[in-house]
Amino acid sequence: MPVKKTVRDYIRTIVDFPHEGILFRDVTTLFADPRGFRLCVDQLVEPWAGSRIDKVVGLEARGFILGGAVAHQLSTGFVPVRKKGKLPGATVSQAYSLEYGEAVVEMHQDALQPGEKVLLVDDLLATGGTAEAGISLIRKLGAEVLACAFVVDLPELGGRKRLEAMGMAVHTLCE
Ligand code: PRP
Ligand code: HPA
Repeated sequence: MPVKKTVRDYIRTIVDFPHEGILFRDVTTLFADPRGFRLCVDQLVEPWAGSRIDKVVGLEARGFILGGAVAHQLSTGFVPVRKKGKLPGATVSQAYSLEYGEAVVEMHQDALQPGEKVLLVDDLLATGGTAEAGISLIRKLGAEVLACAFVVDLPELGGRKRLEAMGMAVHTLCE
């Protein structure tokens, strides 16, 4: 009998990208495979069957690919968190730390209503800085983050612990 592939089996590792010594977990091979993409979206959605979720928020850029599919499957709207300067309307913004320096992410001020229940989606959890910035934006608009969902967790970078220390529920598909 053929062994059923898991989400992890579809993810490619690229050595020395973007810098020497980094093992880059590349989800484009997962997204490009029809079974792989269906499997990961189904697994991201599965805990929320029967729950009230008003919006899915996706983090630029790979969180848009997943978040759009997850929102479609949950029959919710989708809201993008974008890097600074990309959104045309009035925004809220949040700075966060990168490996080198700082970045800023933004969300439209009217993208979420106070009290709305949100699922935050991205491809990968590393230090958790990007997700924490996304959570801050959602909270600035008075909405509630029910949970954060990622395909990949890199546990040695501490993102899960950081988000759980903020009281967040964290759902990941593989390490
Ligand atoms: C990657 C990844 C997450 C973030 C995780 O995105 O897709 O969004 O880094 O890192 P963190 O947990 O340490 O914050 P990247 O910033 O490379 O942006 P991109 O998706 O636009 O390429
Ligand atoms: N893959 C994709 N995005 C990332 C990674 C990785 O291994 N590490 C930090 N962001």
